Amino acid sequence: MREKIHIFDTTLRDGEQSPGCSLNIQEKLKIAKRLELLRVDVIEAGFAIASPGDFASVKAIAETVKDCRVASLSRVLKKDIDAAWEAIKMAAAPRIHTFIATSDIHMQYKLKMSPDAVLQQAVDGVKYAKGFCNDVEFSAEDASRSNPEFLYRIFEAVIKAGATVINVPDTVGYTMPEEFFKLIKGIKENVSNIDKATISVHCHNDLGMAVANTIAAAKAGATQLECTINGIGERAGNAALEELVMTFHTRRDLYNYDLNIDTTQIYPTSRLVSKLTGVKVQPNKAIVGNNAFAHESGIHQHGVLANRETYEIMTPESVGLTQNKMVLGKHSGRHAFEDRLKDLGYQLPKVDIDKIFDDFKLLADKKKVVYDGDLEALVQNKNGVQ
Ligand code: KIV
Ligand code: ZN
Repeated sequence: MREKIHIFDTTLRDGEQSPGCSLNIQEKLKIAKRLELLRVDVIEAGFAIASPGDFASVKAIAETVKDCRVASLSRVLKKDIDAAWEAIKMAAAPRIHTFIATSDIHMQYKLKMSPDAVLQQAVDGVKYAKGFCNDVEFSAEDASRSNPEFLYRIFEAVIKAGATVINVPDTVGYTMPEEFFKLIKGIKENVSNIDKATISVHCHNDLGMAVANTIAAAKAGATQLECTINGIGERAGNAALEELVMTFHTRRDLYNYDLNIDTTQIYPTSRLVSKLTGVKVQPNKAIVGNNAFAHESGIHQHGVLANRETYEIMTPESVGLTQNKMVLGKHSGRHAFEDRLKDLGYQLPKVDIDKIFDDFKLLADKKKVVYDGDLEALVQNKNGVQ
């Protein structure tokens, strides 16, 4: 039996919280519609109380999206929960996502509250949210730096109060995969009513571990994974949706999970988010970077031309690209070079190809990439056309 994994996308909330990533209502709607095509299970549309613009965006998304659950974030405060509900109440499947911090450092310095007061406020908030909405997610902010015994207590109490999902954030990207695995396992084993709720995780990438931690948590029993497109999010970002999904897709031998995602929508969604946020995707970014399916060295190009699986563990088509890329540069070999000449419509005798290949190597030493136009110039040059 394959375990059902729910993908909770927070590009429009945590993703938008990254510096310089603000989106207007039309842009948010465009992305939400794409996320629906991608078939994420939950869209966190924003933090309704944060600003009138955020409220309007969450409301518009709730009224437009039909095939995904739509959530709004709120602190465990009545005014936040009121705003969240007001914004999402027209959704086909609404969710209130409410949170409070549970680590000693946050409780002491930020909240200035005792653990018992935090627990009481969490319970009151969940009960209040439950009065509006059947689906209530509770997050223990900074869970990975919280006392596990306190986490067990607060999760047990909020589930009793009606929480349907309990979320375990690694808010500051501090945890390591083995530790996070143990934390999730501990929650499964020590929260007596855990079978009444879904375990969710939400990992940040401060040490570059967000995806690894999320995968470790899934192994330990988390069935809702929170993530963002291109991994955007506060500071170093959140777990990248495309990396999680394609890991499960590519390593089915290790992960027997059932996901709803249409992987062919990954690339177009990534492009749209990058275009609308203005945040470029680094070229070597896994799955969606410009070089993720590009081959420059001769040995790799030769291998890929003979059989793509030599250097490609997933197909570009599976993430929505039309093809891989053979980049011609100084490391490229004769196979890719000849292939490109054929693609450009040249059928030349071997002696000409030898000459142009030598010219190409000389040019490639001077340029980072040799483009089709450069090749055409080399061919014409050889024919004596300047
Ligand atoms: O990182 C975090 O702790 C959060 C919570 C509000 C879920 O974004
Ligand atoms: Zn977060």
